[in-house]
Amino acid sequence: MKTLTVSLAERSYPIYIGENLLAQADLLTRHIKSKQVVIVTNETVAPLYLQNVQQHLSAYQVESVILPDGEQYKTLESLNLIFDKLLACKFSRNATLIALGGGVIGDMGGFAAACYQRGIPFIQIPTTLLAQVDSSVGGKTGVNHPLGKNMIGAFYQPQAVIIDVDVLTTLDNRQFAAGLAEVIKYGLIRDENFFVWLEKNIDALLARDKAALTYAIEYSCRTKSDIVAEDEHEGGVRATLNLGHTFGHAIETGMGYGCYLHGEAVAIGTCLAADLSQRKGFLNAVDVARIIELFARANLPTKSPTELSAEQFIDLMAVDKKNVDGAIRVILLETIGKATLPMPVDNLSLTQTLQLYGR
Ligand code: NAD
Ligand code: GLY
Repeated sequence: MKTLTVSLAERSYPIYIGENLLAQADLLTRHIKSKQVVIVTNETVAPLYLQNVQQHLSAYQVESVILPDGEQYKTLESLNLIFDKLLACKFSRNATLIALGGGVIGDMGGFAAACYQRGIPFIQIPTTLLAQVDSSVGGKTGVNHPLGKNMIGAFYQPQAVIIDVDVLTTLDNRQFAAGLAEVIKYGLIRDENFFVWLEKNIDALLARDKAALTYAIEYSCRTKSDIVAEDEHEGGVRATLNLGHTFGHAIETGMGYGCYLHGEAVAIGTCLAADLSQRKGFLNAVDVARIIELFARANLPTKSPTELSAEQFIDLMAVDKKNVDGAIRVILLETIGKATLPMPVDNLSLTQTLQLYGR
């Protein structure tokens, strides 16, 4: 097992990464400082892994909340189901919440923990590749609004993140590929060598080779921890983690939550950002082609949905947390391995990218 630390002074926490970690009671119980524990999960993950977690908690008062599965349920209504349970069971302010699931459960569980009685401790047990390499680390929590993805939320750090790579064996290929989109992101924004490693090892990752997968998860968590430690509340460098996301969020909101998986929308969004970067005189054509090829090899979509006109797309992009005074700002790539901070972009360049880059 590897232990990384997210260094945030008194809010620092460990990320445990390894095989069969769900079987290790102590990894979990050492972070529970109360008698009351609520496990938040969903109807897909519960039959697979809820018992593995519950078995370690016989000494506690344990309740579980099993939410419907899907991005379309990442809502204030679902959040309320968690509050209903906590209140009905008279859970106190020192109760611990465990988020067991993918990014949707992690984001909602974390936000519920941030809000209940103004904040209770929580632990992330991410069960998708996407959640293991990205969403469980760094403390961004929240829900969607019909008019904008992740627009209601809070920064709220967990007590610990427990990443058991074995749970990925039950993940289907489409969801697995979606997680690879965020892995590729780290190479693009920060480290060309990792991008080159991915070009060489993408087939091993798709075959779920354990050594390659564990390396990619550790590398991703380390990169994200470093960035979060430097800029927890996204005043600067953390925004680079949103490469492709302004486009991606527009696709998710515009097409209806759940139509495109988050990772798929990010893959398309990153290809659009690469095209725009070339248009702005940064990336060269060869590198744009390399980026698109790697996403395609990872079985991810690379072209934007034709259902959204450029006008609709731009309108959706106007609802984004990186925008300032209503002006759209996106992360671009100077080179493979070096992202810009959010940059204002004109509607003409955006329209050219969106029109030329439709499916
Ligand atoms: P998800 O949570 O919807 O999970 C994907 C699917 O896999 C679901 O159907 C889920 O039930 C199922 N599943 C989960 N674990 C499984 C397992 N081990 N075996 C079989 N099936 C399993 O989607 P996701 O891709 O994990 O997360 C996407 C969400 O994460 C989005 O809402 C996105 O906005 C958010 N996100 C947040 C951050 C952050 O920093 N907080 C970062 C990136 C993404
Ligand atoms: N997923 C983007 C971030 O955590 O900042």
